[in-house]
Amino acid sequence: MASDAILVDWQDRHAELFGKHLIRLRHRLHESPLFSDEALARLIERVPRAHYHVNTMNRSFHDPASWRDGEIGDARGEEVLEAVRNGNIWVLLQRVAELDPDYRAALERIFAEFEDKVPGLKTFKRKMSILISSPKVQVYYHCDIPGQSLWQIKGRKRVYVYPNTEPFLRQEAMEKIILNEADEQETPYEPWFDEYAEAIDLEPGQMLHWPINGPHRVVNEDCLNVSFTTEHWTRELRNRYANHYANGVLRRSFGVRQPRIVESGPALWGKLALAAAHRYSGLQRKNRMTFKVDFRVDPKAPMGMRDIDAYELAK
Ligand SMILES: [Fe+2]
Repeated sequence: MASDAILVDWQDRHAELFGKHLIRLRHRLHESPLFSDEALARLIERVPRAHYHVNTMNRSFHDPASWRDGEIGDARGEEVLEAVRNGNIWVLLQRVAELDPDYRAALERIFAEFEDKVPGLKTFKRKMSILISSPKVQVYYHCDIPGQSLWQIKGRKRVYVYPNTEPFLRQEAMEKIILNEADEQETPYEPWFDEYAEAIDLEPGQMLHWPINGPHRVVNEDCLNVSFTTEHWTRELRNRYANHYANGVLRRSFGVRQPRIVESGPALWGKLALAAAHRYSGLQRKNRMTFKVDFRVDPKAPMGMRDIDAYELAK
């Protein structure tokens, strides 16, 4: 293994596990200057409004109704970091690989290593998002649409990963997300699901990759956290997406009650064709997500934020 490799403790078994089971690996990116306070502060100042979220929420228990959106305003990067360190906020910087070539290079290196190690793996539409979050904040139960990994840079967090099958992830819930009728956070959750979750305490220099659409939730320990996520697609993942998409259409437009997931053959081609026809015919709801923004980051205010007059933001 090259001495500057990002992945540290890859073993042959991980090639068989990748994408099918939860894997935890060690990595070196927590030592990279890309994630220093200075680099993050400059990135915060450059990220366009359309590509970030600042949120606050109830830190005590699963309470999706408490999730609020905010804005950075004209706070400097260092002020935002101070507000996160002492407050109750969660900052998400999206599409950083499109914003800066150094992050793009890191993202490309990550997937070059995975593709080198996993026979047949070919990824596309990769993305990187950086998460900077306060002590004890939570990200509630949800699922993501593309292939997803979480990389820990600073601080510690507990990640709960649940099976990507019913009852933890219902097919209808997945179809709603894919057809833009719900966002990922609206995945139904019951506290007893935790008894069937894998709970992992993630430390700097560790990463997790879990099976596609695997529901998960995250609870920070009592310290500032810096992490990033990577997203990717493969042909298999795209086929699965098309299945959900076509099944959602079949259920809604053709009254099919229990549409199946098919992996290959003419039935798969039919699903791909139906999903593509629906997408490109403009029948899909084009509505962008709207967010009510009602606070601004302020390191001098309690919890690192203060209320402002609410306004709507469409993304
Ligand atoms: Fe997620």
